[in-house]
Amino acid sequence: MRVLFVSSEIYPLVKTGGLADVSAALPKVLTALGVEIQLLLPGYPKAIESAADKSVKVELADFMGAGPMRLISALTPDTALPLWLVDCPSLFRRSGGPYQDENEQDWPDNAQRFAVFNHVAARLSLGLLLPNWRADIVHANDWHAGLLPAIVAGTSGQRPATVFTMHNLAFQGLFPAGLYPQLGLPGDSPIPEGLEFYGKISFLKAGISYSDRLTTVSPTYAREILTAEYGCGLEGLLQRRAKDLVGILNGADYRIWDPATDAHLPANFNLQNIAGKRVCKTALQAELGLEVDAEAALVVLVSRITEQKMADVVAVALPRIIESGAQCALVGDGDCLLEERFELAARHHPGQIAVRIGYEEPLAHRVLAAGDILLHPARFEPCGLTQLYAMRYGTLPVVRNTGGLCDTIVDTAERSVRQGTATGFAFESANSADMLLCIERALALYRQPLAWRKVQRQAMAQDFGWSESARRYLALYHDLTPQAAAISEAVTADPILEKAAG
Ligand code: ADP
Ligand code: GLC
Repeated sequence: MRVLFVSSEIYPLVKTGGLADVSAALPKVLTALGVEIQLLLPGYPKAIESAADKSVKVELADFMGAGPMRLISALTPDTALPLWLVDCPSLFRRSGGPYQDENEQDWPDNAQRFAVFNHVAARLSLGLLLPNWRADIVHANDWHAGLLPAIVAGTSGQRPATVFTMHNLAFQGLFPAGLYPQLGLPGDSPIPEGLEFYGKISFLKAGISYSDRLTTVSPTYAREILTAEYGCGLEGLLQRRAKDLVGILNGADYRIWDPATDAHLPANFNLQNIAGKRVCKTALQAELGLEVDAEAALVVLVSRITEQKMADVVAVALPRIIESGAQCALVGDGDCLLEERFELAARHHPGQIAVRIGYEEPLAHRVLAAGDILLHPARFEPCGLTQLYAMRYGTLPVVRNTGGLCDTIVDTAERSVRQGTATGFAFESANSADMLLCIERALALYRQPLAWRKVQRQAMAQDFGWSESARRYLALYHDLTPQAAAISEAVTADPILEKAAG
């Protein structure tokens, strides 16, 4: 079974969030399960620089006005998975992020950038670029790959089956409808049954409308997105497609996130011998300018600083958290105004609140290892990975009961402590009063070392590895392969792509 796995982020080549972690870990486990998987990524400069074993395989002529481009064959640096990079200098070779410039403004040509990326993906999957390779399954991720199922569905002849994974419905890839004629799609304007969304083009809706199967990243989020509260306006369409939609929980890659082997930590530790965690804590306190005190409860946050993650509520609650006797270490980036509020709180409470704005992978490891409590509130959370990593590092999550947080954390209600199943603390409403009560419950348990240690051991012993979830993706691919197996002949004609090229 040949799978083309298409994503705009793959750790360690390019990462802005959990999508990168998933796009690195899931294909690796699927490969181990016998799937022939190839990854496709835009040729961002850092990604090209850090990919291994590079060679140019295909030169492509000007396409949709983007100038010459080429397909680079490579391997992922750490796991040696086959990787294709779409090297289109005019679209992807820029300083700044994958979606935004250095001033955090969306690139004005994002529609064209990702349309080109999707057309190249479609051609590769259809066997039009390499003489001996075409895909049985196309697995497209998030809006960046949302046009791909639409392009594939619109081709004549036999085609790969398509799976579209929604990692976050809040990011939709919305563009003015006037751009439609430039995207290389059939017709002159978007149709309501296709990718038109309230007068705009939605790349996310394209993925939802045209894919054979839909997945999202936790069972609870799969149910939530059928409601107006979480569906971001797409709930009606998702309800119509509900029989093709499944929630498959993300996993944690313990090759990277294991305190026993983590090279970023000043001391390693594990379930049997947790002494190193104290070393990590005092080292981080010193590093961030917090009072060095191994006994103080350390509340940590590693997150995008956005409203999704309730960063506005956290900013309000910070003084109250330290009044309860805890220290706070916050690492993240995102919304500038919220970042400033975090920084202001740190200036008012030196030694008690430390804030580091920016994206720093090694620091994220050190913080998760040093903390006692991970603060992980969210207005919605498709899955969330940080809480999975934190548990392995013996840092107990405080989460809001939503999405994947619901599916991964067992609250320390009296019964779950008695039964030995508790792994963290959960609250219901997205407000500071509920969140603070929950933090106070966590701090109260922290003051009872024996009870704390019991829940901590339970959290550290959880296995959220990928094997079970990867098998569920594999089952989904198998379900679709009767269709994929019918692809016997290489596709020769492709009217949509001809139109795009012409
Ligand atoms: P999301 O994708 O919504 O941001 P996830 O919990 O799925 O949330 O994934 C977040 C990933 O990004 C985790 O690997 C986390 O460690 C990492 N991360 C978030 N913020 C930072 C940061 N400021 N520095 C380093 N890593 C970060
Ligand atoms: C998104 C979601 C997050 C999820 C990640 C990987 O960024 O916000 O909840 O864990 O994708 O699927």
